[in-house]
Amino acid sequence: MLLHQLADLRKEYLLKKFNEEDVNQDPITQFKIWFNEAMKAELPEPNAMTLATVNENGFPSARIVLLKGIEDDAFVFYTNYHSNKGKHISHNNHVALVFCWLELQRQVRIEGVARKMDESISDAYFLSRPIGSQIGAYASEQSKQLSGREELENAYKHFEALFAKQPIVRPVNWGGYNVVPHKIEFWQGRENRLHDRILYVHKELKGWEICRLAP
Ligand SMILES: Cc1cc2nc3c(=O)[nH]c(=O)nc-3n(C[C@H](O)[C@H](O)[C@H](O)COP(=O)(O)O)c2cc1C
Repeated sequence: MLLHQLADLRKEYLLKKFNEEDVNQDPITQFKIWFNEAMKAELPEPNAMTLATVNENGFPSARIVLLKGIEDDAFVFYTNYHSNKGKHISHNNHVALVFCWLELQRQVRIEGVARKMDESISDAYFLSRPIGSQIGAYASEQSKQLSGREELENAYKHFEALFAKQPIVRPVNWGGYNVVPHKIEFWQGRENRLHDRILYVHKELKGWEICRLAP
């Protein structure tokens, strides 16, 4: 498929349905059901999700990060707190997450509030990573402009030599965020673009309310 054929690129979504009778009353349980199906289908990196943040001037920015767990009904990812996304979240902790599982013709959209994880949990996760990734977290001042790749590789060598002599600990500017959701939408592709969209909205005192949206 070449670029000039883009307009003719069309796929009918016929694989599955997502009807009200299939919907779990709890969106976290529903997410786990779909996530397990994505795992079973052996999708490439099913935990890759788009994270959207908003900067201090109200401009949005999006990038992929990896979901590393669901703790207390919140979605967990790890990053550099001094990165662009970390700065955005410190100004405005409203974020959005999107999972796209094309092989299952599914999308999940989450909106919520991001908060830094407990330091002890970030410590434990950091130490569970391969040593190369641990050193990489020191070597990369994520989102900073570099003079060239050499600067990054020299920084890596510097920290590699340093931590050959002393035990490594989590850098204070690296750790996890919990995203506590207040909206979760499950999208299942259907024929003739009449897709299923089931939205959960969290209401104060009432809990989760469920409705269907037009596709
Ligand atoms: C498949 C994939 C997984 C990624 N996982 C992470 C991650 O878990 N944490 C992270 O900080 N960046 C991750 N990245 C890199 C980010 O997309 C991004 O380049 C980086 O976090 C800097 O973003 P920022 O400058 O907007 O803060 C991943 C990228 C890809 C393509």
